[in-house]
Amino acid sequence: MFDHFRYLAPFYDRLLGPPDADRLARILKLPVAGRILDSGGGTGRLTRALRPLAGQVVVADPSAHMLARARGKRLAAVAARSERLPFAGACFERILVVDALHHFGDQHAALAELVRVLAPGGRLLIEEFDANRAAVRLIALAEKAVGMGSRFLRPQEICEILNAHGLATQVHGRSRIGAWIVADKPGP
Ligand SMILES: C[S@@+](CC[C@H](N)C(=O)[O-])C[C@H]1O[C@@H](n2cnc3c(N)ncnc32)[C@H](O)[C@@H]1O
Repeated sequence: MFDHFRYLAPFYDRLLGPPDADRLARILKLPVAGRILDSGGGTGRLTRALRPLAGQVVVADPSAHMLARARGKRLAAVAARSERLPFAGACFERILVVDALHHFGDQHAALAELVRVLAPGGRLLIEEFDANRAAVRLIALAEKAVGMGSRFLRPQEICEILNAHGLATQVHGRSRIGAWIVADKPGP
């Protein structure tokens, strides 16, 4: 499959800039002693900022070129689509998916898989473009024009899918690109 991120990888971090690590830490309730998974984590732009706040951080992404950047930051990087993660169940205390869900080929399968690897009592954060916004429809058109095949779910749709898997969800707030969706897995 054609990897658009092959061409974006060399300047991706400069294009997007550093994340708001304090806000991420607040929403993800960090620090945490366990593991964090950054699924669709690309260059590790966010993962690097979270590294001091967890026992271990792992970036998973299918793009070899994005992952090479993450490895350059000495991050644990795993080549994997979110639809099929090479991890045991319940092994991550926190998971984040930032600006990536719309790129996933099978979003239902990916969300189910993320729920599988999330530990009881753990928290999943999804930052995603809000398909309710007109500007996002333009972005969708632009991504379609370059053959990205992106598919944008509305925050409510994402919540409904996660609720069906037994997670409690809330739209935590609006972000630069859309919405922050927080989902908590019931404790043990
Ligand atoms: C816009 S980038 C976001 C990267 C990172 N989350 C960030 O905010 O810096 C989207 C990432 O999703 C990845 N991606 C595409 N399809 C995927 C899938 N099925 N599973 C996991 N990641 C995927 C791409 O390779 C790319 O690195």
